[in-house]
Amino acid sequence: MNFRLAALLALLGVALAAPISNDEIAEKSSQGLRLLSLGENVEPVWKSEDEKLDLMRKGIKFFDVTEVYELEQKLPKGKLNAVAAFPAISHQSAVNPLLSQISIPNMQANLATLTAYNNRYYRSSTGADSAAWILSTVKSIASASGRSDVTASAFTHSWVQSSTIAKIAGKTTGPVTILGAHMDSINLSNPTNGRAPGADDDGTGTVNLIEIFRVLVQSGFKPTTPVEFHWYSGEEAGLLGSQDIATSYKNARTQVKAFMELDMTGYYKPGSKEVMAIQADYIDDSLNTYLKSLITAYSRIPWTMDIACGYACSDHASWYKAGYPGTFPYEAVTGNDDPNVHSASDTTSITNFSWNHSVEFAKVGLAFVYELAI
Ligand SMILES: *[C@@H]1O[C@H](CO)[C@@H](O)[C@H](O)[C@H]1NC(C)=O
Ligand SMILES: *[C@@H]1O[C@H](CO)[C@@H](O)[C@H](O)[C@H]1NC(C)=O
Ligand SMILES: *[C@@H]1O[C@H](CO)[C@@H](O)[C@H](O)[C@H]1NC(C)=O
Ligand SMILES: [Zn+2]
Repeated sequence: MNFRLAALLALLGVALAAPISNDEIAEKSSQGLRLLSLGENVEPVWKSEDEKLDLMRKGIKFFDVTEVYELEQKLPKGKLNAVAAFPAISHQSAVNPLLSQISIPNMQANLATLTAYNNRYYRSSTGADSAAWILSTVKSIASASGRSDVTASAFTHSWVQSSTIAKIAGKTTGPVTILGAHMDSINLSNPTNGRAPGADDDGTGTVNLIEIFRVLVQSGFKPTTPVEFHWYSGEEAGLLGSQDIATSYKNARTQVKAFMELDMTGYYKPGSKEVMAIQADYIDDSLNTYLKSLITAYSRIPWTMDIACGYACSDHASWYKAGYPGTFPYEAVTGNDDPNVHSASDTTSITNFSWNHSVEFAKVGLAFVYELAI
């Protein structure tokens, strides 16, 4: 390579790597602009709220990094796997009786409450109200148990809808096993005021997690390593809540054993084979292998691999970006999944909604937590 070419490349490298300054972020975000990351190794770009909504209507996925960009720049890159390997499945005799305590009527009742909010958009008042209901529901489960090792609290953000985090302490302080789902919903034609029941997306994952938490807490489950349940704000608007939390965990040097997302568990296209579709990208390969063995051990439904979901697909991507191992079983292979999402028609009254399907994801989620943390 000659000197001039090397100099040119060095210059280009500097230009590409130059981070967006904190002053620029403060100024642009005060004007209502949002900083969006549309791909890996691509500098994020500023968009207005209207431009951002247009991208969402076109089905273009992104991380909205406005709040986390500054902190992300300061943190080291690279993988943060806390354990070298995941254990073999070995607790069926303890887990199976717990699976039979998972109640479809409980999940139905909780979903009826969630879908009754006009929407659960992260910037709407009903979005904030629905978050407060989730927090008070899991707090009641914690306090009814009388256990000091079980707690629930809000994780507040710079917008009105807080995320919720419930914890079952371990005998040791880490690494943490996390189950996640997103609490927010969206009506793409009118996010703030439009009707968005969000029954499947992601009311199902939300109530699966509440029910798993209830069964584990009431059964007296005392893990060796800590367990957390996360209900994220603002997933639909660019994975806002999960990025805020994953970045803060990384900043606090929190060790994470494994993360699993449940986002949509209640539908598969009539006539198609009933499966759990495992996400193929932005996940941890060894955790995916582990998930396959969990599904085989604990569900009547077989696993299959989904087609690639792509960049910034759901909350697991926030954990992946932070370097943590994540996995994500989905209701169906993409294309056979719920066509009613992000609209007023995402309800449980669609004829093809199936609790029988959704409960299988609750079983796998409970087994994931038990087997990894006991
Ligand atoms: C959004 O909400 C409005 C008003 O509630 C509703 O009429 C419209 O159908 C919704 N949009 C979609 C895409 O469902
Ligand atoms: C349910 O499935 C049937 C058979 O494929 C289809 O005709 C119908 O439109 C579906 N209903 C909804 C609400 O998705
Ligand atoms: C629900 O699943 C069970 C197996 O767990 C099966 O026996 C039953 O027929 C299913 N019910 C419906 C309505 O699909
Ligand atoms: Zn979703």
